[in-house]
Amino acid sequence: MTNRFPKLIAHRGASAQAPENTMPAFLRAVEVGAKAIEFDVTMSADGVPIVIHDETLDRTTNGIGPVVLKTWQELQALDAGSWFGSKYDDVKIPHLEEVLEFSKHHSLALNLEIKPTLGLEQQTVDAIVSALNGIDVSLVVSSFNERALAMFQVKAPEVELAYLTEAIPPDWVRRMAPFGAQAMHCWDAFVTQAVVDEIVNAGKTLRVYTVNDVRRAQQLWSWGVEAVFTDHPDKLIEVI
Ligand code: G3P
Ligand code: MG
Repeated sequence: MTNRFPKLIAHRGASAQAPENTMPAFLRAVEVGAKAIEFDVTMSADGVPIVIHDETLDRTTNGIGPVVLKTWQELQALDAGSWFGSKYDDVKIPHLEEVLEFSKHHSLALNLEIKPTLGLEQQTVDAIVSALNGIDVSLVVSSFNERALAMFQVKAPEVELAYLTEAIPPDWVRRMAPFGAQAMHCWDAFVTQAVVDEIVNAGKTLRVYTVNDVRRAQQLWSWGVEAVFTDHPDKLIEVI
């Protein structure tokens, strides 16, 4: 079955209002009425699937260096909120299972984006699939890393995959096919009405990141884009 998304997806949670990819950002998304969230997942040194965007800790925590060199216990000692605002100083990097349980509780649709460290795709996929085991959520998995997508498909063929890209490659039909992907997620900068027509007329779904301007979102929806990823679900929800 193909998962359909509501018109907006909170990108890394409500990431303009709370520290991205943390529980306060996901809670804020729910509070403003978002019904779907996107988040990024990688792996700790000891194989724990964790929710964070960057390969390094420096931008969004008080740690330094590669995320994958730290154990789960070391990561839990870090502050993942103060960089955004002092009231978030007790915020931690979430475990994937915490986000899944929260999402199930709030009936959110999910886009889990796999962000593997290059060379550790299999271990990252294994950690994610293990965390997903038995949880009943509405889920689409995506990744810029096609190796990771292929590995994920082998481990969890029942989970829907989306093809994640920046530009739309000329051979996008051929590239999406092995993953059985019904949807493409692509960068707003490359989206024109002609692009949307091409994808929609081929029976595929297009979702676009990252759209924070209300008028641009309305234009994309009017062209046939199913959903936009936004850091500002609070703003876009007002026009839905
Ligand atoms: O999955 C859509 C979007 O999140 C991809 O880019 O860098 O924000 O993870 P990025
Ligand atoms: Mg992402």
